Amino acid sequence: MKLFADSILKDRVAFVTGGGTGITGGVARALAEAGANVALASRSMEHLDSAAKAINGMREMSALCGEAFAVAADVRKPEEVEKAIAATTERFGKIDIVVNGAAGNFLCKPEELSPNGFGTVVDIDLKGTFNVCRAAFDQLKQHRGQILNISATLHYLGTPMQLHVSAAKAGVDALTRNLAVEWGRYGIRVNAIAPGPIGDTEGMKRLVPEPIKEKLKQKIPLGRFGLIEDIENAAVFLCSGAANYVNGAVLVVDGGHWLAANRLI
Ligand code: HXC
Ligand code: NAP
Repeated sequence: MKLFADSILKDRVAFVTGGGTGITGGVARALAEAGANVALASRSMEHLDSAAKAINGMREMSALCGEAFAVAADVRKPEEVEKAIAATTERFGKIDIVVNGAAGNFLCKPEELSPNGFGTVVDIDLKGTFNVCRAAFDQLKQHRGQILNISATLHYLGTPMQLHVSAAKAGVDALTRNLAVEWGRYGIRVNAIAPGPIGDTEGMKRLVPEPIKEKLKQKIPLGRFGLIEDIENAAVFLCSGAANYVNGAVLVVDGGHWLAANRLI
């Protein structure tokens, strides 16, 4: 079913980290379907090339679809991020949407987590998000653009074996709110989406062992895991003119999961 008007992101250019796979791969595809040109950035060209090929294949079927461009960058390395931003600007002429989806995760008890294990996740999720926002600032300021960070709900409660990611994503929420205040004056909107458990994703595979999946599903008030499409739709909304006055929001898209997660009945 078509939810948005055709071409609502026409003439926009999005730089999407983690855009080669999973949830943010879906977001990149949805932004392109809505008319934006998209640069997909992450470490693996294999991930990026196949995602870009799929989007460019859609473009061959419909001229309303934007074009995709793959550019390798590790978000932990500011110089690689700067080069990727420059390459995107050269390719598409500007950047006016940034989506920060790059992330790393694994299950680990706090007492078994090494300093480098903790630091690696903070470096990717939180410092990586900062590196990209910082590198894209001139473009975003020039074009009154927007930032969309992909957060989580893990840190709303004490999620076992997720200290590192909870700390990183709490930082992402703080960064979202601070930048919304500081960069709002330039017309830059900064928002986040906090997905709940989304089926068929790397995150779910890593975090939710098969035997407890059904139990988890039963705790979700809407009675199902999220679909990547649920996050795509929230992302298109937040990046579009329909959200022109939304700034500093962390939009929870989790079927009501975190509100219900701590309840016994
Ligand atoms: C304990 C671990 C570990 C594990 C890695 N480390 N895996 N510690 N348990 N399972 C430690 C290592 O021992 C090392 O510390 C440090 O982390 C860095 O490990 P590397 O393998 O060198 O890191 P790197 O190659 O940079 O890879 C980063 C990564 C990896 C995060 C560890 O898993 C990755 O690339 N992930 C990307 C994809 C991903 O995770 N997607 C899921 C996103 S879902 P030492 O001390 O030994 O040097 C998500 C939220 C989902 O983010 C929420 C769902 C509800
Ligand atoms: P995913 O497919 O593994 O996405 C993570 C992406 O980050 C990959 O494309 C990976 O690409 C990229 N990446 C990792 N390290 C990077 C680095 N150092 N530099 C650049 N890119 C890097 O996992 P997902 O489950 O779809 O998660 C996507 C986003 O949603 C993440 O922000 C995650 O925290 C969030 N989230 C997911 C869930 C869920 O249920 N799955 C729930 C809440 C929040 P490369 O390997 O090519 O680098």
